[in-house]
Amino acid sequence: MRIDILTILPKLFDGPFSDSILKRAQEKGRVYIHLHNIRDYSTDKHKNVDDYQYGGGAGMVMRIEPIAACIDQLKAERTYDEIIYMTPDGELLEQGTSNQLSLKGNLMILCGHYKGVDDRIRQHYITKEISIGSYVLSGGELAAAVLVDSIIRLIPGVLNDETSALTDSFQDQLLSPPVYTRPPVYKGWSVPDVLLSGNSQEIDRWREDQALERTKSRRPDLLD
Ligand code: ADE
Repeated sequence: MRIDILTILPKLFDGPFSDSILKRAQEKGRVYIHLHNIRDYSTDKHKNVDDYQYGGGAGMVMRIEPIAACIDQLKAERTYDEIIYMTPDGELLEQGTSNQLSLKGNLMILCGHYKGVDDRIRQHYITKEISIGSYVLSGGELAAAVLVDSIIRLIPGVLNDETSALTDSFQDQLLSPPVYTRPPVYKGWSVPDVLLSGNSQEIDRWREDQALERTKSRRPDLLD
């Protein structure tokens, strides 16, 4: 998979992409992430990427020309399955969205700032708009990092234990059951007996019950 990220703050991605699973996925060649600084596509003297909004009002708007120039150049080089805009008024990111996107070949992600991008970008280039929650971030970068993380861990060969992404919370509309490891007793707090029983059928049943209980009490909306 190839992911192109359009941003005015490429350095913000240094941290999330240079460690752990996302780093290994890139080293293994499962994903190629390319960062593009929108400012590099600005042709004006001061490399401006924003301007006052028509009609007046507080807040700047990201200009159409540099973003369009960057997208046009990338689209001329390859076909994109989705051109995604990170925005608080997009569709709420769910596991199903990440599952679908993990099957794609080429994704482009645009990170907004200020009041957002000139709406003509959204009308004429963007194929999908995603929000990571009902709150406003300073820009789309952290949201894009969340989206990319949720996608990359689903690409076959990225996680060591191939089955582990399938047993994540939300994969079957249920939260995950509680997990334990050694020691069996700590400060008098015991691990549930069933997990030490060696009876895999009973363990499976206990996990299903626990997953259902957790979902009922914490996220009943998932069961609707
Ligand atoms: N940009 C600013 N806030 C955002 C959010 N909640 N989700 C996605 N992109 C954003």
